[in-house]
Amino acid sequence: MRKQIAAANWKMNLTLQQGEALIDELLNTPHNLSDNQQAVFGIPFPYLTAINAKLAGKENVFVSAQNCYSKKSGAYTGEVSAEMLQSIGVPYVILGHSERREYFGESNAMLAEKVNICFEYGLKPIFCCGEALSIREAGSQNSFVETQLKESLFHLTAAQLTGFVIAYEPIWAIGTGKTASSDQAQEMHAHIRSVLAAQYGAEVANSISILYGGSVKAANAKEIFGKPDVDGGLVGGASLIAAEFAAIINSLK
Ligand code: 13P
Repeated sequence: MRKQIAAANWKMNLTLQQGEALIDELLNTPHNLSDNQQAVFGIPFPYLTAINAKLAGKENVFVSAQNCYSKKSGAYTGEVSAEMLQSIGVPYVILGHSERREYFGESNAMLAEKVNICFEYGLKPIFCCGEALSIREAGSQNSFVETQLKESLFHLTAAQLTGFVIAYEPIWAIGTGKTASSDQAQEMHAHIRSVLAAQYGAEVANSISILYGGSVKAANAKEIFGKPDVDGGLVGGASLIAAEFAAIINSLK
């Protein structure tokens, strides 16, 4: 059975002290995680070690980086490598968030390199895809997302892709308060799963957790996560409020 995941993406928010206080509050707020469910905290690089230590011994709760570089090592001032993340015990890394694609020029080809380097060092990517409003209005969202997946992931073997996490985040729903309807989310998630099944077979496609992201909050999580192909969420703003994120965790199937 594929994992159901509530993933927080703090983006560039909170000081270390605020982040630690948020984690403490969240751990003290009633939330249930069965063995098939996980909570993942996508947090800024400087806090990974401290927050990872805080989560030690807690079951089904993990940290994630928000990015890593596409090269192994070398003269890339300011970048963070997959090997560095591995060396501090980080299991997950968010790759290809639309903000990185838009503000930092990350292309599908560069993301293919990043995916490869993550596999080399045993990091699990949470691979983001999703279309802008103009593409949705033109009715081209399915082929757009399909191309993102093909160009960044389809060089992988079925074994590499098994257990993978994909996050569908329509750009028009990120930070706007405008959520995709649960039917729109289900429609795209089913499309993503069918594209994966055509390339890798149904068994692999069914093993992949596909998260929805874009204005998820406590009030809408249960309905969105209730759809058959939605396996949880990647949450920005609402993950910065302990009670909201605890309710989102409790909305997982
Ligand atoms: P919001 O939940 O703030 O819309 O952000 C979504 C997102 O970008 C998560 O990666």
